Amino acid sequence: MTRFQTGQFCRSFRVSATLLVLTAACRGSEPGVVRGEMIFDACSPCHGDDGAGKQSLGAPAIAGASDWYLSAQLAKFRAGQRGYHHTDAEGLRMRPMSRALIEDKGDVSSVVDYVVSLPIPDPPATAEGDAEAGEEEYTALCSNCHGGDGRGVDTGVLELNAPSLLHLNDWYITSSLQKYRDGARGVGDAAGATMRAPVSGMSDERIENVTAYVMTMQRLPRKIAAPPAPPLPPLDVDPAILPEGVTVAMAQEGQEIFNGAVGICFTCHLREGGGGPLAPDLTDDVWLNIDGEYESIVNIVMTGVPQPVEHPGQMQPRAGRPLTDEQVRAVSAYVFTLSR
Ligand code: HEC
Ligand code: HEC
Ligand code: HEC
Repeated sequence: MTRFQTGQFCRSFRVSATLLVLTAACRGSEPGVVRGEMIFDACSPCHGDDGAGKQSLGAPAIAGASDWYLSAQLAKFRAGQRGYHHTDAEGLRMRPMSRALIEDKGDVSSVVDYVVSLPIPDPPATAEGDAEAGEEEYTALCSNCHGGDGRGVDTGVLELNAPSLLHLNDWYITSSLQKYRDGARGVGDAAGATMRAPVSGMSDERIENVTAYVMTMQRLPRKIAAPPAPPLPPLDVDPAILPEGVTVAMAQEGQEIFNGAVGICFTCHLREGGGGPLAPDLTDDVWLNIDGEYESIVNIVMTGVPQPVEHPGQMQPRAGRPLTDEQVRAVSAYVFTLSR
């Protein structure tokens, strides 16, 4: 059977077959995009032929998302970390679709290859909301991770895991933010939990405002890497102030961890620890949860802050990152120097 015939066969077959049978029947040897296009026949009824989404089915635009983000979300649906909640009708609809993909056959990477080959959609703004009020929220609560321009941290590797928002439909942005807030999304995985912090306690009105603002960013050119952050100033530490067992080299390593993708501390505490709406200032001598001594800093970075005193969202153990004990001690050394 030629490629074309296989595609035809699969298309007509879809009408009467379950997805599971379909993917089994379409299991071909064609790699990458071509095979992905066939598999996509099973996605297009909900996500649209162009991958731009269908509101009537609650299926968002997936064209325009990055490969790493698509793979990560499909993996979450498959593992039950997304589409797990009884109120999440859309997630529950998507979950069986993800499970019909056969990993051994490379279905996930093939369909992702195809989706990223589609043109990036530019959905219209339909939601009501005060974009001006939303801009303030966005700048304070969202821009650290998704970028001032909403492109996300699109480095192609799983670093900050914050996706681009520019291709998304406004109804989907609103419903996603509500799901994160209400625990219907993001409870069982580190990246999702990171996203829950900024929206915890947000009213529907604030969510609509921030969505309206995101939609004003839709027409920027996309897929262009954001400019790199300015270099960090050299860390000048007096070794005399350091507690036993802590070195200047550790604090210097910690500076990179804190202000970069390894530790992502800056996404909440802001660069060089100045503090923001999501997390406290670490450069002053006010401590909310600890006494500020070195060991207390190490402990709180290890355990996280499940119930913050003043801030809306949680800090996860080791900030939800795969930090080693040595890296925790290094980043804590840096935090220790900030207020001294
Ligand atoms: C029966 C309808 C349906 C089909 C078929 C379907 N999806 Fe979905 N998909 C959804 C819905 C609904 C959502 C939104 C879930 C939510 O709101 O959390 C979704 C969400 C997604 C997401 C997450 C998007 C994001 O921005 O986080 C991805 C990725 C995805 N689908 C990929 C696929 C792929 C690939 C296929 C084909 C193998 C597919 N879907 C087939 C309904 C469907
Ligand atoms: C600390 C970093 C961080 C902050 C701050 C943050 N986000 Fe996110 N955001 C993420 C991560 C990580 C994900 C992916 C989570 C997942 O995999 O479920 C995400 C996902 C999302 C999604 C879902 C995208 C999709 O395709 O399904 C939307 C919408 C979103 N963020 C909007 C916002 C808005 C609006 C704000 C401000 C109110 C915000 N984010 C603040 C890190 C962040
Ligand atoms: C998702 C946001 C977020 C990230 C990422 C994050 N933190 Fe936090 N951090 C918080 C919150 C919230 C608190 C508690 C504030 C409160 O109690 O009101 C906190 C508290 C702290 C404290 C104690 C401050 C005090 O006054 O009690 C330290 C130290 C700290 N964080 C260090 C770090 C380090 C180091 C990293 C990176 C490895 C990091 N944080 C990453 C949100 C975050």
